[in-house]
Amino acid sequence: MIKALGASLFLLLSVAHAAEVSDCPGYKASLVKKTDSGLTADLKLAGKSCDVYGDDIRDLKLIVEYQIDSRLHVLIQDAAEQVFQIQEDLIPRPPASKKPAAHSKLKFDLTESPFSSTVSRRDTKEVLFDTSSDKLIFESQYVYLGTSLPESPNLYGLGEHLDAFRLITDQDYSRTMWNRESPFLPRKTNLYGSQPMYIEHRENGTHGVLLLNSNGMDVKLSKTDNGHSLAYNIIGGVLDFYFFAGPDPVEVSKQHAQALGLPAMMPYWSLGYQQAKYGYWDVNILAEMTANYSTANIPLEVVWADIDYMHYRKDFTLDPDRFPLWKTRELVDTLHKRNQKFVMMLDPCISTDQGYDSYSRGHEQGAFLKTKDGSDYRGVQWAGAVAWPDYQSKEGLSWWSSEIKSFFDAGTGVNVDGIWNDMNEGSNFCPDTTCNPEQHAKDTNTPPEPSNPPRNRITYEARVFFSMTKVIIFPHHSYQGIIIIVP
Ligand SMILES: *[C@@H]1O[C@H](CO)[C@@H](O)[C@H](O)[C@H]1NC(C)=O
Ligand SMILES: *[C@@H]1O[C@H](CO)[C@@H](O)[C@H](O)[C@H]1NC(C)=O
Repeated sequence: MIKALGASLFLLLSVAHAAEVSDCPGYKASLVKKTDSGLTADLKLAGKSCDVYGDDIRDLKLIVEYQIDSRLHVLIQDAAEQVFQIQEDLIPRPPASKKPAAHSKLKFDLTESPFSSTVSRRDTKEVLFDTSSDKLIFESQYVYLGTSLPESPNLYGLGEHLDAFRLITDQDYSRTMWNRESPFLPRKTNLYGSQPMYIEHRENGTHGVLLLNSNGMDVKLSKTDNGHSLAYNIIGGVLDFYFFAGPDPVEVSKQHAQALGLPAMMPYWSLGYQQAKYGYWDVNILAEMTANYSTANIPLEVVWADIDYMHYRKDFTLDPDRFPLWKTRELVDTLHKRNQKFVMMLDPCISTDQGYDSYSRGHEQGAFLKTKDGSDYRGVQWAGAVAWPDYQSKEGLSWWSSEIKSFFDAGTGVNVDGIWNDMNEGSNFCPDTTCNPEQHAKDTNTPPEPSNPPRNRITYEARVFFSMTKVIIFPHHSYQGIIIIVP
């Protein structure tokens, strides 16, 4: 009996695995309702579901809005509206000003069965986006949509990446969007941020296509018989497209900013010369480095401190021997008097060590990301076994901002000018889901003991350097920069 059950289960499994995305039936549009400023339609699965990655979603809704002359919004979502969409409070959607379609520079057309659509320029009729070569797939864990493009298209974007500015088109090429920490300068791979937006530059104009979807995705670029294709392979979410008419790259960028908002204005000083390095393990070394810049007559606007300053790499702490508070405050005051700025690193990972106050407070307040059973989700990072603040919860935000306020208090703490929010792409050093954070931290010696004793006595070299600096850089007011070398 058990044997027989096993056999039929195996059969079932192998049948399930036999389905391929190429078997998926696509969709059929019906109830197409045109309005003055857009259209809506129902999309129904056009045959037997293929259920390759999760379940095919049978009923979808198409919403097209001519928002402003240069911006067209096309949304394909599940009719039940249960699939995740990026929260409005994180990315407020641009208002639809309900312009008559006839005024738009772009035009949307659809074919009902199998469902496909095009976006073209209204004046020249040039087709910019055309999904007719592949069927739409919309499953609970896989969403696919492809568009055909001209031969050797001039495509830019789909970041963050370190590949050529004009994306590779002479061979198959994939842009993965899945935020991850990635030291050095890796090519053809995913990096810290995701921007599912491309700009296509053509002989007769430039346009932009933004897919507002925060799920992991591969955007595949391939040669086809009569041109090129660009295909979105996404592990979830909805198809929320914004098309920007351009007609030049600057206009596309402006239209993108108009839709999603401008980036925060950066401080003027952040455009200056900066020095950051892991390994400055004592506040005196930071001071010496700063003075050395003056000695060499190299301008320096900003001094950065890496995780060396922390006590066992814990956020909101100072190594009491190597970065005592009074000395660190003195360094910052000296920098400020010299018109220089100071930036300190923070990592979102919070050590779960007993007796670490920041963690205890966060844990009590419910500030950390949780597992299903309600306990803090834990992993390993610079500080060893850690939890991560949930920036999207009220508790997480209020705990994080109150820790920052007290540690960086200008009167009693370290009066920084900026914070380097490192590893905030959600890095976890645990290799897999079976990892025991305490054990893994121990096995990998994370965090290590500080490898150098405090440097509070002047070495012979430093003494030479000290007197030399005193003479040479006194007129450049940098003398103060090293005065705290003396304990
Ligand atoms: C660009 O415009 C010119 C002039 O209207 C036309 O001849 C040409 O075919 C257009 N190119 C494309 C790629 O549409
Ligand atoms: C500062 O300059 C001195 C003299 O060249 C050198 O020995 C020392 O290593 C420098 N300090 C730092 C932190 O770079």
